[in-house]
Parts: sequence; structure tokens; C-alpha cells
Amino acid sequence: MALVLGLESSCDETAAALVTDEGRVLAHRLAGQEAAHAPFGGVVPEIAARAHVEALTPLVEAALADAGVSLAEVDAIAATAGPGLIGGVMVGLVTGKALALAAGKPLIAVNHLEGHALSPRLADPSLRFPYLLLLVSGGHCQLLLVRGVGDHARLATTIDDAAGEAFDKTAKLLGLGFPGGPAVERAAAQGDPRAVPLPRPLVGSAEPHFSFAGLKSAVLRAVDAGIHAPADIAASFQQSVMDCLVDRTRRALRTVAGEAPTALVVAGGVAANAAVRDALRAVAAAHDLPFVAPPSWLCTDNAAMIAWAGVERLALGLTDPLDAPARARWPLDPTAERARGAGVKA
Ligand code: KG4
Ligand code: ZN
Repeated sequence: MALVLGLESSCDETAAALVTDEGRVLAHRLAGQEAAHAPFGGVVPEIAARAHVEALTPLVEAALADAGVSLAEVDAIAATAGPGLIGGVMVGLVTGKALALAAGKPLIAVNHLEGHALSPRLADPSLRFPYLLLLVSGGHCQLLLVRGVGDHARLATTIDDAAGEAFDKTAKLLGLGFPGGPAVERAAAQGDPRAVPLPRPLVGSAEPHFSFAGLKSAVLRAVDAGIHAPADIAASFQQSVMDCLVDRTRRALRTVAGEAPTALVVAGGVAANAAVRDALRAVAAAHDLPFVAPPSWLCTDNAAMIAWAGVERLALGLTDPLDAPARARWPLDPTAERARGAGVKA
């Protein structure tokens, strides 16, 4: 049996987990930073990095105690090495390196996006490559054909904002607080999704990509108009995002039909949204494909997915040297063409 310790610190969650190669999560500890960032309405990188420094080592100790194992019994240390807020990434990666050096264990420098991309295989051991993955989080909105470990074809990305970013901005405009996704989902459940006419950017477009900036501006105008109830704006916004995700996913399924994906998979923080999951489940059913969505706690940032990516990489002998770099940007598919307008996101 192989046992991997995973560390996550790329955004505003600090986490440590122990996962076996059979996909058993022996321990998972997570410390959120919502209270520290809430006054600013978004994640402040410097505050995040300091909070990771304070939280990470105690979380590692607690995770080891929960699992009843010592560092000597761990087979490898997997740490997020990017992409993300560089200060936080460095905290986690340096901690991982120090533990690996002290315990004489291999280091695995994990791409956070690959952590999300492989997390469905931790949730569902029967899931086989290749699968079509919709990765929707606060920093990313991509469609990927996951062919194997380290082998991802990016079919689409956002040309401006990520879907989660749009949820967070909408929550802010509606005064629902931070983090915004769950708050918008709760408000949307009380509203009418047809009440407010909002755009569906790029829906029906021959271009494969996503765009949410125009939707965000339309929400701002709807809020300023002061006509609609916040719940109706939330519901209409969420419906618009769902229509975009569904349309772009359908398009991608058509273009990858030749490679016969085994399933439609959704991961990342926005995949925690029940309405989004239901909409995508229907797309999968219409294409006669199994639908896989990890449980919510595994969709939002966590260390179990990093440990699991470590398990998958360790099994292939893919370990990293102790001078592995921390990367603010780290595209999963470096060969993908730049999307129109997008220059900054992985
Ligand atoms: O994957 P994640 O935890 O962090 C990133 O790597 O970005 O995703 C966080 C994002 C945030 O934008 C958050 O608002 C969104 O996921 N999110 C949701 C829900 N839960 C989290 N969006 C919509 N509905 C939710 N229930
Ligand atoms: Zn993430």
C-alpha cells in the first residue's frame, strides 16, 4: 500500500490530507480564511500567504494524528506547486520540500489544476481515461480532454473571467457576502430564473471558449436598475451561467466524439453547485455518457485531491527534485493556442 501526504495552499484554503493508493482518505484537515478576507470582499494575496504559514504545520500534525501514522510511514509528499497566488504556493511547496528532506521521502510537485482534474478518479475508481472534464473554479473555466496523468488537451478556456469569479462578483453586487458561490446558489433557490433578461456570452458561437465579463456587467446594470428582487437576479444569473456551461460542453462533446470519452466529468468549486451539476448530468444523459462529479468537499480546494494526484504520479514514478519551482502560472496543456483576449490565465 502506498500512502501520500498532500498539501494545498494555492488560494485561500490551507489543507493537509493523507490518501492511500486504494483511494482511501485517511485524514483531511482544512482551514479556511474567509474571516480574514471578508472585509475586503475577495482574497488578499499577502494576507493569504501569512495565514498559510500559520496554519499549515499544525494541520499536517493534526492530519498525521487523525490517521494514526508518522511521517516515516508516508511514501511521498505531494504539494501544490502552482498555479495560484505565488506567496501561498511557496509556503506549501517549501513546507513539502522540508518534510520530504527531513523524512527522506520523494517530493511530488503537483499542478493544482491536475489535482482538480484527477479528483473524480478518487471519487469514482471506475473512471477511465480519456474523459471530458469541465473544470469550473474561481480562477479557471476550462474544458479538457483528460487522456492520462500529465496528458491533458485543453479544448476551451475563458477569454476573460472564470465562472466562479462571476459568482463571487454577483454575490458582492447583491450584498450576499464572500465567498459568493454558495450564497448565490441559496439566493437563486428563492428566485425566478426567467425574471431578469441576461446575456449568454458566446452561446452558439463557433469559437469553443467561455466568456463571463459581459454577464457580470449585465448583473451590475440589473442591480443598479433597482427593479428586480435580489433572488430573481441571482436565479437569472445562475441560469445564464448554466446555459453557457451546457452549450460549451455540448460543443466540446461534438468535437471530441472521435476520441470516445468514457464520461462527462465536472470538477472545481463551481461544481459544488447542485443546479450546475443537474444541468450537466442531463447533458451527459443526452450523450449516453456516465456523469461523474466528486462530492462537494472534493470539488472546492482541498488537499485530498493533491495527495491523490501524488498517488497517481508516484505509481508512474513521476517524482520531482527538491528544487522544483513554484509557479504562479502553469497551464495543464502548454500546447493549447491562446484564446482570444486571454493572456494571463493558465
Ligand atoms: O476550486 P475552488 O475552491 O478554488 C479555485 O481553485 O478557484 O473554487 C472556488 C470558487 C469560488 O469562486 C466560489 O464562489 C465557487 O468556486 N463556488 C461556487 C459554489 N461553491 C463554491 N459557485 C457556485 N455555487 C456553489 N455552490
Ligand atoms: Zn482550485
